[in-house]
Amino acid sequence: MNQKQKERFVELLRATGRENIDYVIEDLEALGFFEAPASKNNHHNYAGGLLEHSLNVYDMAVKVRDLIVAERPQLAAKLPDESLAIAALLHDVCKSNIYRKATRSERNPATGQWESHETYNIDYSAFPAGHGEKSAIMLLQSGLEMTDDEVLAIRWHMGGWDIPFQSSEMTASIREAGNRFPLVTVIQIADTLAAKILENVV
Ligand SMILES: [Fe+2]
Ligand SMILES: [Fe+2]
Repeated sequence: MNQKQKERFVELLRATGRENIDYVIEDLEALGFFEAPASKNNHHNYAGGLLEHSLNVYDMAVKVRDLIVAERPQLAAKLPDESLAIAALLHDVCKSNIYRKATRSERNPATGQWESHETYNIDYSAFPAGHGEKSAIMLLQSGLEMTDDEVLAIRWHMGGWDIPFQSSEMTASIREAGNRFPLVTVIQIADTLAAKILENVV
């Protein structure tokens, strides 16, 4: 984990002045957020990767917000800095407690020798509540006060990747959340830009 990134993450959250934000930071520390990877095999799959990914999503969200506000200045009030910080930095806290360090053996094609590599196993047993909804629930459990659009931006940050399409209620909810709250779309786009482009290893 990169200490400078951790300091920036904590500073950005504290700058929101949000009640109980220190409890959130304490809980993230206890759960292993700052040491967690962002994924097992894809983007930022190393210790501290989740922290770095969260900051990347924040930086992308600020850029996307600025582009939107340049076109439609009246939306500035709906996309304040503190909402971007809360939603972007905390959208993936659900990943804090699912990765377990493990090793895997792999044959080195150059030498033919078996080598052991560090990897992660995924274990959802700590709090099997889903993904975006799990992040929102965890933050509420830590006592964080959030606006409706922050909760919805965190809940729906995966966009269509995270909904069971056989559920008409889920489909209607994600559509309505996107229609009513610009923050929902900004966070979806920022997460996609960070994971699929900035952090893409291919
Ligand atoms: Fe996510
Ligand atoms: Fe993410």
